[in-house]
Amino acid sequence: MSEAVLVYLNGRYLPPEQALVSFQDRGFVFADGIYEVIRCYGGVPFRLQAHLNRLAESAAAIWLPPPPLEELNEVCRTLLRRSGLAEASLYLQVTRGAAPRQHLFPPGVPPTLLATVQPADVPPPATRETGVAAVTVPDERWDLCQVKSIGLLANVLAKEKARRAGAYEAVFVRDGVVTEGASSNLFAVWNGRLRTHPAGRRILAGVTRTAILETARAAGLAVLEDPFTLEELRQADEIIMSSTVMELMPVTRLDGAPIGAAVPGAVHRTLAAGFAALVEEAIRAGR
Ligand code: PDD
Repeated sequence: MSEAVLVYLNGRYLPPEQALVSFQDRGFVFADGIYEVIRCYGGVPFRLQAHLNRLAESAAAIWLPPPPLEELNEVCRTLLRRSGLAEASLYLQVTRGAAPRQHLFPPGVPPTLLATVQPADVPPPATRETGVAAVTVPDERWDLCQVKSIGLLANVLAKEKARRAGAYEAVFVRDGVVTEGASSNLFAVWNGRLRTHPAGRRILAGVTRTAILETARAAGLAVLEDPFTLEELRQADEIIMSSTVMELMPVTRLDGAPIGAAVPGAVHRTLAAGFAALVEEAIRAGR
């Protein structure tokens, strides 16, 4: 991960070494907070409004006051401009503020508002050309996966499990049903038909996932938002994972076994081209 080059913390723009948070911050003590990661292409934050809207939904789900979306929009653009970066990642985090440790919400404490900008963390190009390996892990997360919570311990453990197995990503499986990746959504293709787990409490409905669904429908592909089992997934012709960081990532091996022809497939090519066109359009439009 690249290092932050500039930070906004509670109303002030600061160099990273001066951006300090209290040891009593509830983000630190309870993971009592939410976040977003936004990719910027050619100096333009991609689908910023969708990320801000999801931040507001996450805030509402954990009973945080609505975050100041207009201010955050301005903060993102200012950080990006001041960083001078074209290919960048923005990180936003809101916590329930700093207060002596007790579970109950502290009355009258302002949320901690953090935003950072750093060079984009881009997967090695070879991964997209050859595809990556993934391993399945039990989905041991809580039941509000639609909330982009900073409480990511289950995701962190899953990702580390994948790394130790020589894989790039972990695939969560709950009661035999494939939900999503440790930090990504998952699509699979059978006979040219694209399927992904429906939005709801079992997955984080990714901004990239939405863009891919739009691309797929525009390309005339058959698309289903319908759960599928691990047994079905093992028989897929293609698996594609998606996130702000990965964009689209073909998975060519699952738990050590080849998927389809074990090379990135035709549907991946179509969707990746469609996604690249959306990015180009966003850069041209400046938003
Ligand atoms: N993660 N599902 C999970 C569990 C995720 O953590 C992410 C993204 C996604 C994809 O969402 P989007 O397309 O909006 O990035 C799905 C970010 C990138 C992260 O935690 O770094």
